[in-house]
Amino acid sequence: MAKKKRALITGISGQDGSYLAELLFDKGYDVYGLLRRTSAGPPPYIEDLHLAKKLSYVYGNVRDLSTVRMVMEEVRPDEVYNLAAQSHVWVSFKVPDETWDTNYYGVGRVVNEAMRVNKDVRIYQASTSEMFGATLPPQNERSPFAPVSPYAESKLKAHEEFIVGYREKYGLFAASGILFNHESPRRGKHFVTRKITHSLAKIKLGLQEKLLLGNLEAKRDWGYAGDYVEVMRLILQQQKPHDYVIATGETRTVRDFVDAAATALDMHITWKGKGKSEVGRDTGGKVIIAVDPEFYRPHEVHQLLGDARKARRELGWKPKVSFDQLVEMMVKSDYDALKHQTS
Ligand code: GDD
Repeated sequence: MAKKKRALITGISGQDGSYLAELLFDKGYDVYGLLRRTSAGPPPYIEDLHLAKKLSYVYGNVRDLSTVRMVMEEVRPDEVYNLAAQSHVWVSFKVPDETWDTNYYGVGRVVNEAMRVNKDVRIYQASTSEMFGATLPPQNERSPFAPVSPYAESKLKAHEEFIVGYREKYGLFAASGILFNHESPRRGKHFVTRKITHSLAKIKLGLQEKLLLGNLEAKRDWGYAGDYVEVMRLILQQQKPHDYVIATGETRTVRDFVDAAATALDMHITWKGKGKSEVGRDTGGKVIIAVDPEFYRPHEVHQLLGDARKARRELGWKPKVSFDQLVEMMVKSDYDALKHQTS
């Protein structure tokens, strides 16, 4: 019988970590997660996977070399999925040091230690469409990078040095997915999509008055996280390591997302005004959406729209869940959970 592959996922407690752990377990892997200890403990879906013996977790942090070293020696992974990151763009302007330590130096710690215990290790790096920054869409693997935030700069430097660079210098199997925004009911509430679905569900149930947002004009290419983790595994099963843009090929504004979420809740919003004065009213004329410049970024990425033809051609990958299905799934999950809590 073939030996079971061992996968280590860093950033296991994030949205992608839980979906990927489930997928890898179903594919027959022994799955390990590097978990940052917090007083709140692991999120429920990680605890459930652990209790079901689908996932073993080891406490550690990519900011701490000794724990990275220990976990690599303990797990000796065949495949490493490096998802750990300070992943919030707005926050990266507030905490640039922490962002660089996790998103750049952290990648170096993971890659170097993984190579040290297994020179044939395969490494997946969560690279990001934010690296394209100011580059006009559509963006693909040949588009120039033009990062505009500490988050994107740190991710790009890690991508160039430890993924593309180590592949060329050391022949390491290091590959990346340049993922465009991907969302799900497990998305953190400080990202715009989940903030919208959670708040609108609360407004619908009379639990919240108003939703405050930043830039309503920003355009994003939003896909479903469950579809995107499949590609992470596929990337590591190829003969050669490459980088792939992963996206839906559709782009929408933040305002469009609000409208779609409202529709899924049988609500209708009428917009009025421009910029900081723009508001969204419900059918009774009450303002339920307003702009708060606090959520503006010092430097915004205005438009992301990915061209994922390489992934389609070489990996046979395409997204399965449509934009409307994604929004509906997120809204329903928030609405049902809130309804359950209040009944
Ligand atoms: N978070 C947030 N909160 N964003 C807002 C808000 C708000 O109240 N109002 C408007 N926005 C706008 C942001 O300015 C941005 O243009 C857009 O909504 C999306 O913001 P986020 O959901 O925070 O995601 P992101 O695009 O900055 O980054 C996400 O996707 C990247 C891939 O493209 C993150 O998941 C990154 O880690 C990831 O790399």
